[in-house]
Amino acid sequence: MLYSEKVMDHFASPRNVGEIVDADGIGEVGNAKCGDIMKMYIKVEGNKISDVKFKTFGCGAAIATSSIATEMIIGHTIEEALQLTNKAVVEALDGLPNSKLHCSVLAEQAIKAAISDYYVKRGVDPTPIVGTVKECDACHCGG
Ligand code: FES
Repeated sequence: MLYSEKVMDHFASPRNVGEIVDADGIGEVGNAKCGDIMKMYIKVEGNKISDVKFKTFGCGAAIATSSIATEMIIGHTIEEALQLTNKAVVEALDGLPNSKLHCSVLAEQAIKAAISDYYVKRGVDPTPIVGTVKECDACHCGG
């Protein structure tokens, strides 16, 4: 089968879909390869991400990766969330077909973009902490 059971599960019942009205950070990224868009909302308490919601106008793999990525960062610190790679997300989903690997980059980048926005809102320059949020073509993920 092309997709793992975990991918099918997160695609059929994505977790944490929606938006946070009083979000502390909002990140929106687009995938240059396919034109899909993802928006991620985070709520931060202390140094921890207390809530995450996302909206994806994209393919099933993008929905599944964003869904599992939200579960992987809720309750974690900002530092931990920044370390989440698309590779870890793909592993947590028990793999993705090669042609769909690029979709997983959207979730990683959307989290980074939301955290950047959180720092900007607090008057802190996010670049030294978050780095540059890159578009998919530059990621060399092989997708
Ligand atoms: Fe666009 Fe998957 S094909 S994110």
